[in-house]
Amino acid sequence: MPALYALMVRRLLPPRFAVVGVARTEGNDETWRAEMEEAVKEHARDEFRQDVWDELAQAMRYVSTDFADEGGEDQLEQMIERCEQEKDLGGNRVYYLAVPPPAFPTIVEALSKRKDNRGWTRLIVEKPFGRDLESARELNRLLWSHFDESEIFRIDHYLGKETVQNMLALRFSNGIFEPIWNRQFIDHVQITVAEAIGIESRAGYYESAGAIRDIFQNHLLQLLALTAMEPPIDFTAESVRNEKVKVLRALHTPGPKSVVRGQYGRGFVEGEEVPAYREEEGVKPDSTTETYVAAKLFVDNWRWADTPFYVRMGKRLARRETTIAIQFKRAPHPPFEETAGELRPNVLLIHVQPDEGVSLAIGAKVPGQGMQIRTVHMDFLYGGAFRTGMPEAYERLILDVMLGEATLFTRADEIEEQWLLVDSIIAAWQRDRAGFPNYAAGTWGPPSADDLLHRDGRSWRRH
Ligand code: BG6
Repeated sequence: MPALYALMVRRLLPPRFAVVGVARTEGNDETWRAEMEEAVKEHARDEFRQDVWDELAQAMRYVSTDFADEGGEDQLEQMIERCEQEKDLGGNRVYYLAVPPPAFPTIVEALSKRKDNRGWTRLIVEKPFGRDLESARELNRLLWSHFDESEIFRIDHYLGKETVQNMLALRFSNGIFEPIWNRQFIDHVQITVAEAIGIESRAGYYESAGAIRDIFQNHLLQLLALTAMEPPIDFTAESVRNEKVKVLRALHTPGPKSVVRGQYGRGFVEGEEVPAYREEEGVKPDSTTETYVAAKLFVDNWRWADTPFYVRMGKRLARRETTIAIQFKRAPHPPFEETAGELRPNVLLIHVQPDEGVSLAIGAKVPGQGMQIRTVHMDFLYGGAFRTGMPEAYERLILDVMLGEATLFTRADEIEEQWLLVDSIIAAWQRDRAGFPNYAAGTWGPPSADDLLHRDGRSWRRH
């Protein structure tokens, strides 16, 4: 809803539209509008404007139903048809499925029965997209038996983030990066998706997902694919996704020593004491669900052979930070050896969030006598360069679905490759016990994650 509100503020929604909310919760148009008004006031990036909200709210309807109930789908269909008639909408529909996986078969079949030729039908499918390779394949088969691939939009909201799309701009619109974007010049890559928040009130979901299914399987592997992919021949959905899936296919299954999992204990985050994961409401006191994963991954192809991609993600870490750090090899022969102590290798750091931007660490001479060299940063900050607020990922993605533009959505084969890797990691975990909790909330994760890099004579980027 905050994304729809932002689109409304910018006049990006079609002149005639309706939004129908569907859930099991009892309610009606009025209660739903009131609840959403509060949500928009709290979460939208724009200041609240009553006139804009009223325009959006008058297009909002609510249906309280359960698809498992006899007649649930009829109720929804009647509501949609009424909206279509009243507003002369012509029959184009986007269904946004943010529902638990077991509800999919009933819902997808019900929606397919309602397809007609009056307009297009598109499905947005939220994660989790299955819980392993087999269930994801089953879900794909189910979707394909009723819908064409061009009608299915599997959402990964990280792809809607400006900074993530900027990775493509940075790599493929600048001649200087591509020649050095490979194993000859890059020592290794580090990708961090750190969150300060815990699981909030989502224990039901998180207990069966864990960090590996929640973030690693989707957001993190997508960031890796965009970093490592070959230049696509154009920016159509097929070309970009063809290149991403090649990277995912080339990912080498990591051995048990190359993957570290963790779960947070009590600690302090941003000055506040927070409970251990096992003490969160709805979490089993002996839960072995991981809230942190770090791994060393290899992309087995000509560009990247032997170049490690160290990745880590976790909840209740010291702070919220998503970054991609490309660390280059050291200069082959530094003539300033005796003063190079303070000099770190060149790093191109992409700040996905917060403080969105890109910075390049380079060595520079300290002013004054002698030849002292120190690391300094060349920074590009979105706020300073464009003087405009950053759109929410969902604004871009919802609009793209309305336009039928699928480049920023995940194709079936990508999701399946992602699961293939994750399934092998989870299978290895099942063979040994997790000694949890193994990191305190508010730190940067378990010490074994540091060892993962120390063993290779490297370390995680300093914060
Ligand atoms: C979601 C996960 O997909 O992404 C959440 O389910 C996580 O657990 C969220 O908090 C992070 O998104 P963002 O945009 O805040 O980085």
